[in-house]
Amino acid sequence: MRDLSLQLLDWYDVHARAMPWRVPPDARKAGTLPNPYAVWMSEVMLQQTTVAAVHEYHNKFMSLWPTVHKLAAAEDADVMAAWAGLGYYARARNLLKCARTVVDNHDGVFPQNYETLLMLPGIGPYTAAAISSIAFDLPETVVDGNVERVMARLHDIHDPLPGSKPALTEKARALTPAKRPGDYAQAVMDLGATICTPKSPACGICPWRDPCDARIAGTAAELPKKTPK
Ligand code: ADE
Repeated sequence: MRDLSLQLLDWYDVHARAMPWRVPPDARKAGTLPNPYAVWMSEVMLQQTTVAAVHEYHNKFMSLWPTVHKLAAAEDADVMAAWAGLGYYARARNLLKCARTVVDNHDGVFPQNYETLLMLPGIGPYTAAAISSIAFDLPETVVDGNVERVMARLHDIHDPLPGSKPALTEKARALTPAKRPGDYAQAVMDLGATICTPKSPACGICPWRDPCDARIAGTAAELPKKTPK
């Protein structure tokens, strides 16, 4: 059987969702990486907001403050006003704090490694891994709810979340390819958002239908299990 991550990348080459901050797979393969500032902003906005809702806000922020220097110099009140409607305002305050830290301590250049990104305001393990892989093509593993669901199904893991998180993270890490890790990270998220959906997954058109243990066992729709609150 061909390598799992390659199978998913072949699917992504055809089905990648277009997003304003993304560079499509063809251009990435030709060596173009996205603007780290745009990727960082998208990931902060996407922490608690859907891709569809983020489009408009991302476009607005990029036209109001096209560089991290411009955002760092913005009035707090203007940024908070532009954020209105996205909710979770701590994210907007951290966005400004982070922009000012990047300008003051890193010459306005986003650090190109996971550990340094993690020290910036508002950037946790998820966001540091997302920026590392998507903006810099570093082989970091991005684990969000989509990735947890896809891994639980691919390996038919029935241990409930959150206890199964370390095991799911390990599975995700084992699949992360050395080549095209940024496309791979986005491909797993797109798969989880469009095919391996929480309800009624579209297993029939999934690029991983053959190797998927939960599809074979008939358990995909009940995974991942969750410990009752
Ligand atoms: N959700 C959060 N980050 C994402 C990304 N880069 N692509 C798709 N969905 C996402």
